[in-house]
Amino acid sequence: MLSRKENDLLTRVGPRTPMGELMRRYWLPALLAEEIPAPGCPPVRARLLGEDLVAFRDSQGRIGLLAEHCAHRGTSLFFGRNEDCGLRCIYHGWKYDVDGNVLETPAEPKGSDFGKKLRHTAYPCQEIAGMIFTYMGPAEKIPLLPRYEWSGLAPDTICPVKSYLACNYLQGIEGDFDSSHTSFLHNNSLRDTERLKRDGAPILEAEATAYGMRAVSIRNAGTERIYVRTSPYIMPSFSIVPGPPTAKFEEDDIRGFRFWVPIDDTTTWLYILNMRRKSFAEEERQTLRSWIDTDYRRIRNAGNNYLQDRERQRTVSFTGIDAVNPAEQDGCATESMGAVCDRSREHLGYSDLTIIALRKMLLRAVSDVAEGKDPPHVIRETQANDFSRLRSVKGILPVGSDWHKVMEGLGANDG
Ligand code: FES
Ligand SMILES: [Fe+2]
Repeated sequence: MLSRKENDLLTRVGPRTPMGELMRRYWLPALLAEEIPAPGCPPVRARLLGEDLVAFRDSQGRIGLLAEHCAHRGTSLFFGRNEDCGLRCIYHGWKYDVDGNVLETPAEPKGSDFGKKLRHTAYPCQEIAGMIFTYMGPAEKIPLLPRYEWSGLAPDTICPVKSYLACNYLQGIEGDFDSSHTSFLHNNSLRDTERLKRDGAPILEAEATAYGMRAVSIRNAGTERIYVRTSPYIMPSFSIVPGPPTAKFEEDDIRGFRFWVPIDDTTTWLYILNMRRKSFAEEERQTLRSWIDTDYRRIRNAGNNYLQDRERQRTVSFTGIDAVNPAEQDGCATESMGAVCDRSREHLGYSDLTIIALRKMLLRAVSDVAEGKDPPHVIRETQANDFSRLRSVKGILPVGSDWHKVMEGLGANDG
């Protein structure tokens, strides 16, 4: 349980809020590269941390992320003309480059240098792994974009998707750090009668790491065996979750790096960067996005009660929500808490141990920034910037194994 004040601190992300300031110290996904696929293509809206923005790819392929409303009198640049090396407002023709410079003010008298005195809000962007990242914090505090496994992968081995979540980001990412729910919410086979008895109440651990935190869950897995899963929480709101148990760790499994990015206090983008060693066939790519419509909204959403099937809930699965991606079931659990969950009314138990640790860490990070310090995982030196071996791992091991060691062998390295 949190106090109302703490809950507000963790969930409000607009400009000049403490959590908003923390989030603005990191590179965050702003959109998918496919949304602005080619030089000179139409601009798109990209609301982020409560700020209305417009993204465009100029005629030379450079990416711009500008405040949506024209500096002149506020017309939306979303309707603008993407012209030679700049975006031009349709009202009086002011033209901006990707850095926010006002290149032309054609309605002003000839020779006017009015535009030169202005600079429109523009955030720097980097395109990597089919995603466009931006940094919205103070220019003098700009960090490096950490190097993760996906930073070096070939385009045919990655498949990023995004989906809209109609609630605060914290509800989303808390689900990634909450191991016990997987035995219930994601139980897709009621026939597996042993599953609840075996899995329902794992032993939990939360460990502080250089990048944030690592949640560990340990379950009984039959005679003399344990099932161990580790999930990294990466500052400020990213995670890697393991897939379902398999007898041995499969390097060719699809893995998902997840980014929970606040659109504002009550809505969120979940970016899932699917990756693996083999390339994705076109059919596989279609399946990976088959649960999302063309506006990146989940086909199962609150408006249709997540297409829950009560008969299947009685006979087949715990939820009656047959998911292509577990995020469809997570979406029902987290959105139905309300737009911003009131954490002063919770009743937390042992199963929430990792979530409690996570909230404490975030509250500490918020006060670090308020005190003028760098929060965790703000990287400025290239030699401290290799997180490419960071993984979420799972494994079924003999009881009494030194699982820390085994997991490191499987790639749970902290980078
Ligand atoms: S409002 Fe954009 S140019 Fe006038
Ligand atoms: Fe989940």
